[in-house]
Amino acid sequence: MQHIKDQIRDSWDRSSAYYDTRPSHGISSDEERYAWALEFSSLVPEKACDVLDVGCGTGEISLVFADMNHRVTGIDLSGGMLSKAVAKAQEKGYPIDFRTGDAEDLPFEDESFDVVVERHLLWTLPEGRRALGEWRRVLRKGGRVIVIDGLWNDGSFSTRCRHSIASGLTALFEGQDRTEAAYTSDMNASLPDAGGLPADAAEAYLRDAGFTEVGSKDLSSIRRLQTKNMPWYQRIAYNWNYYLASGKK
Ligand SMILES: C[S@@+](CC[C@H](N)C(=O)[O-])C[C@H]1O[C@@H](n2cnc3c(N)ncnc32)[C@H](O)[C@@H]1O
Repeated sequence: MQHIKDQIRDSWDRSSAYYDTRPSHGISSDEERYAWALEFSSLVPEKACDVLDVGCGTGEISLVFADMNHRVTGIDLSGGMLSKAVAKAQEKGYPIDFRTGDAEDLPFEDESFDVVVERHLLWTLPEGRRALGEWRRVLRKGGRVIVIDGLWNDGSFSTRCRHSIASGLTALFEGQDRTEAAYTSDMNASLPDAGGLPADAAEAYLRDAGFTEVGSKDLSSIRRLQTKNMPWYQRIAYNWNYYLASGKK
């Protein structure tokens, strides 16, 4: 059987062509871009620092940090996703170092970065708890980890209904269902947080990995900006709790 990481990579390679067109993935407006920068500016130093975007995908968050004049490295399993990121950075003239690699086993020396950020990655890691230790390893003392995630699927009947309706209507109106990279049930079984995780669980992961000053912030205001440009039939599924958790090394 194909290794889980290879399956994950292939799945994102397949969805890379349309990933940025999906609400909450591609940043949908300057207003949303500014809102992200504002969130980050309250957590990271104003002067240029070294930022690692783990599971950077098509580079949306990497570009926000580059806009803020930070030195950015992005790492992802999927060459397809990274090729989109590279094209966007080239267009903007940003020297972002995008490379293929595993966020659970980083190819960087200890204490190489001031900030490690992830958006929408933790849920798809087979060993997310261990990964946080790895992210702490590459942070300098006093560095920050930033985790942006949510509990997409709490397993309830109402959530299952919302997802099925949104997915069916997307297929009806757009010709095919492109709500997310499709993971098989076997893949999901290898992922302890396949449905996402609530903020308090993310905070517990951070504390267990040795981070201090751990806290989280609700991102409903950004969620509202994301849904502004979203077709009504997709909004049906976008009702989850969305947050940014952070900690200090
Ligand atoms: C939902 S996308 C998020 C992309 C990006 N962070 C964003 O906010 O748009 C998940 C990304 O994580 C990547 N990924 C999954 N497992 C990974 C791993 N073990 N190491 C590095 N990247 C991984 C996938 O290839 C995909 O690009």
